[in-house]
Amino acid sequence: MAALLVCWAFLPLLATAFSWHGLWYELGLFGPHPSLSYESFDVKSPEVHVKQWNPKCEEGYVFLSPQGHGYPEPGPLVYDHKGQLVWMERAFGEVMDLKVQQYQGQDYLTFWAGEFDGTRGMGQYYMLNSSYEVVHIVAAANGHQGDVHEFRVTDQGTALLTIYDIRQADLSALDGPKDGWIYDSLFQEIDIETGELLFEWRASDHYAIDESRLPLANKGSSPSPQDAYDYFHIDSVDKHPRDGSYLVSSRYTHTITCIGSTGEILWVLGGKRNSFTDISSDGSATGFTWQHDARWHSDNELTLLDNAAWERGYTCDHSRGLMIELDFANWTADTLHRYESPGRLSSHSQGSLQVLPRTANVFIGWGKSSAYSEFSVDGDLLCDFHWGPRIFFWFGWTKSYRAQKSHWIGRPRNPPDVEVDDTGRAAYVSWNGATDVAGWVLQRASNGSVPEDAFESVQYDPKEGFETTVELVGEGYFRLVAVDFEGNHLGATRVFEAYETWDTAEAIKSSLSIFSEGVFQWTLVGICATGALSTAVWTGRRWLREVFTSSYKRLRSYWGVTKYELAC
Ligand SMILES: *[C@@H]1O[C@H](CO)[C@@H](O)[C@H](O)[C@H]1NC(C)=O
Ligand SMILES: *[C@@H]1O[C@H](CO)[C@@H](O)[C@H](O)[C@H]1NC(C)=O
Ligand SMILES: *[C@@H]1O[C@H](CO)[C@@H](O)[C@H](O)[C@H]1NC(C)=O
Repeated sequence: MAALLVCWAFLPLLATAFSWHGLWYELGLFGPHPSLSYESFDVKSPEVHVKQWNPKCEEGYVFLSPQGHGYPEPGPLVYDHKGQLVWMERAFGEVMDLKVQQYQGQDYLTFWAGEFDGTRGMGQYYMLNSSYEVVHIVAAANGHQGDVHEFRVTDQGTALLTIYDIRQADLSALDGPKDGWIYDSLFQEIDIETGELLFEWRASDHYAIDESRLPLANKGSSPSPQDAYDYFHIDSVDKHPRDGSYLVSSRYTHTITCIGSTGEILWVLGGKRNSFTDISSDGSATGFTWQHDARWHSDNELTLLDNAAWERGYTCDHSRGLMIELDFANWTADTLHRYESPGRLSSHSQGSLQVLPRTANVFIGWGKSSAYSEFSVDGDLLCDFHWGPRIFFWFGWTKSYRAQKSHWIGRPRNPPDVEVDDTGRAAYVSWNGATDVAGWVLQRASNGSVPEDAFESVQYDPKEGFETTVELVGEGYFRLVAVDFEGNHLGATRVFEAYETWDTAEAIKSSLSIFSEGVFQWTLVGICATGALSTAVWTGRRWLREVFTSSYKRLRSYWGVTKYELAC
């Protein structure tokens, strides 16, 4: 009785179980890869923790290519705008840079797939149509292998892609050997239809080795090419829609370079050869470091993700997106907007920034940290999602090179999947990749070999997340038909038989057995103890956070992480 009374006090706490779940999630109590499993689908998907949501966030799907240390199911992944699974596929193995792009007036899902050695990729680029079938495979020309960092389809039906080419180079400017090895950075423009090479640019023809900010640290010094020095590290290529010039981001020289149609450098933003006077209040317009994903926003505005950190150092304690305005009359650069990472997280590699087409909101994928966020154009945080625990962000155990938000219509060729519960009273239904399902119509027939039209519709269940649980009415032969918001039939599951197998009397007895004295009391004690412990942690969560942050900082300095002069 006393236990009962004490427990009443904790009831309000139990009611807030959802936020508790979030706290445990972020602290890593569900492990490095919290995931959701399904009855009708045999792949587990990373569970998303919605930290913040706002209806001003643009409608659309989120495209990720998760991978990382021990990450169980690498491959492309699509979430809806609330973080519910829409599509996962393992057939391609590890992929990078999943996104939607337009080619010849149609939407394609595009990504890189192949082998990845930790620095460069050696593979090809895939283009899937709305039924998730491979329609084009684009390869690099001149005997090269396509790298992970960029695959950009232009309005002219061409593709921009990156290549990392290991070759010999003189490293004596950095006190290295004369016959050392580098990863050279190239990009190519390829005609998608014919595969013809239209343009190629090689960094080492235009950038000196000592323009790199990456310490040599014995890289590239061995007689074999195994441990080459990645001096430039190309990580994005964009093409100006009107003048045709190329915009290249180099992470290790801290530069954004504009390249003319004959390969010559027109100007450089940032780095040792910067062409602009920085008139921003904090020097960020030219002082970004280790950045990713430079894109034209207008004729004189560009966006990028300023990681401001690499594995062994940082120039700012957190990463942020930047919108930079260039003045080509006076050669000045100014930062118009900053998109500061929520919780001041630092992403020390990878990441992306996208200005969304309808709202002009800014969508950022935090690369090595399993998080993505959406901001208003002025920099107010609107939505914030984690798809792995915050406590492991630094390690990159769950990461996606880029994240994109986009409109997408997916109509898979495979039928929906269904699994019947042991009791024969419920069915679980899902349709991997289908985007326009509004709900499920349960249909029944008395006989398994009846024609399609002999099925009668008995019930409608609106779709709940990736998988919907449908209660079966009656017995016999069933199937579930996916319908869209207009009531059109999109596809049907296989026909399955279901009969009531559950013994009702047995069920009541077994559900009552929990009230046998000992079990009941111990359950109460268990609930109360958990409640008390949880309260203690909740009250002390600030303190806990302090402890985690300070030990994390200590760890970083222990690993030789250098704090450079701060640029933020
Ligand atoms: C997708 O491509 C496959 C193979 O080329 C084709 O059979 C299918 O009709 C295409 N789907 C759509 C919606 O265009
Ligand atoms: C260049 O600077 C001058 C003087 O500061 C200013 O008057 C002029 O408007 C600037 N030009 C542009 C295109 O902003
Ligand atoms: C199933 O229904 C069809 C058409 O109504 C009938 O011809 C057939 O004999 C039935 N089969 C069984 C096993 O009842």
